Formats: sequence, structure tokens, C-alpha cells
Amino acid sequence: MAVQEARDVVLVSNRGPLSFSLSQDGTLQARRGGGGLVSALGPAVAGSGAMWIAGALSEADRRAAAAGVVEAEGFRLRSLVVDADAYRAYYDVISSGALWFVHHRLYDTARRPRIDRHWRQAWDHYREVNVAFARAVIEEAAEHAVVLVQDYHLSLVAAELAAKRPDLTTVHFHHTPFGGPDDLRILPEEVAVELLEGLASATACGFQAPRWAAAFETCCAEILGRTCPTFVSPAAVEVSDIAGVATSAACAKALVGLEEQVGDRRLIVRVDRIELSKNLLRGFHGFDELLRIHPEWRERVVFAACVYPSREGLAEYLAYRQETEGLIQRLNETWATPGWTPILYDATDDFPRSVAALRRYDALLVNPVRDGLNLVAKEGPLVNERDGVLLLSRDSGAWAELGGAAMGLNPFDVGATAEALHAALTMSDADRRTRAAAVRKLAGARTPADWLADQLHAAAAHGGSGRP
Ligand code: G6P
Repeated sequence: MAVQEARDVVLVSNRGPLSFSLSQDGTLQARRGGGGLVSALGPAVAGSGAMWIAGALSEADRRAAAAGVVEAEGFRLRSLVVDADAYRAYYDVISSGALWFVHHRLYDTARRPRIDRHWRQAWDHYREVNVAFARAVIEEAAEHAVVLVQDYHLSLVAAELAAKRPDLTTVHFHHTPFGGPDDLRILPEEVAVELLEGLASATACGFQAPRWAAAFETCCAEILGRTCPTFVSPAAVEVSDIAGVATSAACAKALVGLEEQVGDRRLIVRVDRIELSKNLLRGFHGFDELLRIHPEWRERVVFAACVYPSREGLAEYLAYRQETEGLIQRLNETWATPGWTPILYDATDDFPRSVAALRRYDALLVNPVRDGLNLVAKEGPLVNERDGVLLLSRDSGAWAELGGAAMGLNPFDVGATAEALHAALTMSDADRRTRAAAVRKLAGARTPADWLADQLHAAAAHGGSGRP
């Protein structure tokens, strides 16, 4: 994207590219925010001059919002403050607690969801917060600007913009999978219709993989009885960013610490949020099965789980974390011997430490039950130094790009996961080298700039009615 054009682009997302903190003397400090969305979009947008509108998530973010548009780390950010109760309903109950569950098929349907009066009130708040985001866009967007709306939190923004600012061209990009018609029918009918109408009001809707675009198209056809233009544009890793972390002093230090614990053993790694869709439990059950059916691996392999807490306002996430930690403890009690801890579990959000583990893995386990893309599946091969094998769920969006060179997993099959780990750890050096080179090439084939260019092309190809 040419820099001068970017001034006419507005990005909108729930979580923004900067997160603020208050230093001891009370001054505000900005730093790059976390989360998959920011690592995928940030490098493309930084320095472009595009305006980014995002929610103010913390007290420090809210203070920063009072100062108006903040320019830092190459971003121009307007933080949006919304009423705390409305925000909780929009984020916890609907975005994380309902839409995330529908699109990833996470509901334990014997118990959840329970769509009652409170749930419907929460949906009203979801709509209210979406309208507030749309209003901020309306205030900031130049005439005929292109608006790039991100993800399931903001499904109704395009509809509001179409009604109030028909001069704008809005593209909505979904970072997650998209549920099929049967998944969406879990929602009250009028909610499913409002949700799909919201997305279909965009000039075009983008997805990380063909499967998710097809699911959205089927939902539009079956539930709305109409079509909406879609496009597929997988997010990418900025190779120089991750290489910079891999060569940092913090990463070198973390690698020394890891080497001390692993020694000359083989290493299985996973790097994930503590998140139901990431399928941590079946991953550890698969490791347990490996040690059971292939006893030769006892004391010869270590599993490093670099994970970090997420969405702790939701009971399901707290329970999942507890269950995961309980399982790890049980497995370590079952298998550990003096000098060997089979599972190294670290739940501190420490990116250089995670990158150190990615440099060192012999097998990288990426086994989500469903995932829009999964950036770790790309980051790992790009920094790994041991021709490690990528084991990748066929239900991740990244499978469409990397499937040719990764080992495929059915994420529900614990026995097959154990066998895939065994196959990866016993693969010949020549095969490992060939596969690792192929997967590295595929993982680095696209850049964040390509992703942004795809959004702008979609705006130009499908929309443009309002362009001068
Ligand atoms: C996924 C979503 C992103 C979100 C991230 C972290 O990758 O697609 O939109 O930012 O998860 O989730 P959180 O709820 O912490 O923002």
C-alpha cells in the first residue's frame, strides 16, 4: 500500500496495536499490544499513516483515550471508551462466550449455551458497542475512505456504516473459523440473521482459509437467502520481526535455560494461549500415550509447553486451565524419574522464551480442534534450527497453506497423535531436512504487507461505489 493512500484507510478492531501502562510518576507509556491479530496486522500498518480505532481495555488505555489520537510505535491510534458493563457483556458474554464458541464449535451442548433474558440483554450491549465503534469510524473516516473491520467482535459495524456513511467502502475480515449453518442455528434465529446481515453489509468479507469463506457463503445462502462477496487472505509473519526476537539477548538467555533442562534429549514444543480451541488436553494425553506405547521414549524426550493465560473473566477458561495443570501434574507424577521431568510447563507470557523453544524443537505440536489460521505454525518453522517436524491439525486454517509439508493430525485422535509424535521423532535426518525446508518456504511465502494489500484489493474490486 502506498503511504499516501493509507491516510484514507481506517482499521477497526477490539484489541489495538498499543497497550498503555502508567509509570510510577503517573505518565502514560505506550507499547506494542499482544495477541495474534496485532502481530499479523501491526507490521503492515505501522508507519503507513492509517488510523486505527480500538477499544480501551485497561484503566491506562482509558486515560490515553482522553488524550485523543495517540501516535506511537508507528501507529495512529484512537482508543474508544465504552461503558464498563456494556463492554463486559459485549466481550465476555457475546464475543468470547458465544461467537467464539459457535465458530470454533466449543459448546458442551448438554449444558451450554443457555440463551435466557440475560443473554439477550448482552446481545443488546453487543449491538450498542458495535454502534459505538461505528460512530468513532464515522467521526474519523475521510470521505470515500476504506474501512477494514476486524473479527467477530465487530460483526455489526459494516451494517451501521452502510446505513450512515454510504460513501465508505467497508471490508470485514474474520480471523477465526466460521461456523456452518447448523452451528449458527444454535443462536436465536433473529440474532443469527442480524449477525449475518451485519457481515453481509460489508463490500466483501475476508477469511483466513477457503473452508471458512465457504462456510460463511453457505450460511448466507441458507439463512439469509442471498450471497455476499468473499475473499481468502491468510495472515503472515513478518520474518524480520521474529528473526529479531530469535537473535535477541533475552532469547539467547532463555535458550540456555531450556538447554540446561532438556540436555541431549529430544524436544516436543507447543506455544499457545490457554484456550479451549487449542486442544491442550488431548495434546498431553497424546504425549502420555507415546510414553505408554513407546517406552523407549521414557527419559529421552521432553515436552515444553509455553502457554499463557487468556480470557480469565470466563469460567470455562479458568476451569480449562485448572484441568490442564492438573493433568500435567498427574502425568509428571506418573512418569518423572530423578533428573527427568517429562513436561516443562511455563504459563508466563514471555515471547523471547517461546521463540527460544521454537528454535530448539524437534517436533512442534499444533493440534487445535479448530483454528482460523494459527500463526505459531508459521513462526515455528521460520526460526527453528534443528529441522524440526511440524505436526499440524487439519482443522487449522494454516493446513490449507502448510499441509503439503507438515504432518497432518486429526485433533480428536489421541492415539494417532501419539503415533505422529513417534514418527516425527524417528524420522530420518534426510526426510526431516526436506520437510523442514519445504515448510519454511511455505511459511514465509506471504508477508503482512500482502495481507493488507489483499484487503485493499477486495475493497477496490468489489466496492468502489464511493471512490472518487
Ligand atoms: C484470536 C482472535 C483475535 C484476538 C486473539 C486474542 O486470535 O481472532 O481477535 O485478539 O484471539 O484474544 P483476546 O480475547 O485476548 O483479544
